[in-house]
Amino acid sequence: MRALKRAYARIRGEIKIAPRRRIVARTLQTHFGLPAVPDLVLSGSRGHDSIYKVRAEGRTLGMLRLVNPYRRRKTPAPDMPFISVIEPERAGREAAAYQAGSAAGLTPQPLWQDKDALCCAYLPLSPLHDALLAQGDQAWRLVMATSAALQRLHALGVVHADASLANTLADDKLTQIVFVDFEYLPAPHISAAAARLYDYLRLLESTWKFMPENLKTEYADWIAFMAEVSAAEGFSEGDLAPLLPALPQLSSQTGLFTALRRVLSGASA
Ligand SMILES: Nc1ncnc2c1ncn2[C@@H]1O[C@H](COP(=O)(O)OP(=O)(O)OP(=O)(O)O)[C@@H](O)[C@H]1O
Ligand SMILES: [Mg+2]
Repeated sequence: MRALKRAYARIRGEIKIAPRRRIVARTLQTHFGLPAVPDLVLSGSRGHDSIYKVRAEGRTLGMLRLVNPYRRRKTPAPDMPFISVIEPERAGREAAAYQAGSAAGLTPQPLWQDKDALCCAYLPLSPLHDALLAQGDQAWRLVMATSAALQRLHALGVVHADASLANTLADDKLTQIVFVDFEYLPAPHISAAAARLYDYLRLLESTWKFMPENLKTEYADWIAFMAEVSAAEGFSEGDLAPLLPALPQLSSQTGLFTALRRVLSGASA
């Protein structure tokens, strides 16, 4: 029933956004110097916005995020450490993150933007969530590689606020790791240091239910990484409390959470 409701909301949202989509498609035709209006092929649908592949002459020229005000979603509860960026600023938030991240290869490159839309380069990479589902035994490898990439993103002054393997694209060998979908911001009650900590915790939280049971106690390397990164990024145990409402899975893992608290309070891993 929920899936049906979601499908209905998506179709309704697409019908209502159609006039704006047609205008954007014509603008992209001019931008890319195309002989015909490109096809906008709906690709993502779970978030607030409509995500399309921009297709012309048998090629994908870019990925378009079109803020869709007709696809209203629940606003996060006030105790959550993140907030939705209010439309149409969402395209601007994503553009700013992509501008900062793309020079370092950590986000797609922005190609064209408008107040409610952003077209970025299409990358021949796959969401790491697919890799997790196909090879659960690789869960920690995926989390560790993505965590290291998050640290590089933070060094550019960008936090993700919805880090997950679903919002991380990569090649098979994990040589290129790229973040997409910057549709949230840290909530105003979250410090900059806690927002950086949240990215690492949210990544693991969102992976947890897909991780094979026998791997859930294999967190020693991750704890060691958190010890290192907490010193480098300036977060500590005191930053955990406001993040807890968004971490039901992790915070119920007594062993892992005790070890995390220990290293965040400055003890060695
Ligand atoms: N620049 C890109 N290059 C290649 N694929 C991309 C790019 N940007 C997004 N994608 C693909 O589109 C999917 C959806 O993008 P995004 O996460 O930004 O939107 P979403 O609202 O969360 O949609 P979804 O519901 O599909 O997750 C990504 O998981 C990825 O597979
Ligand atoms: Mg997404």
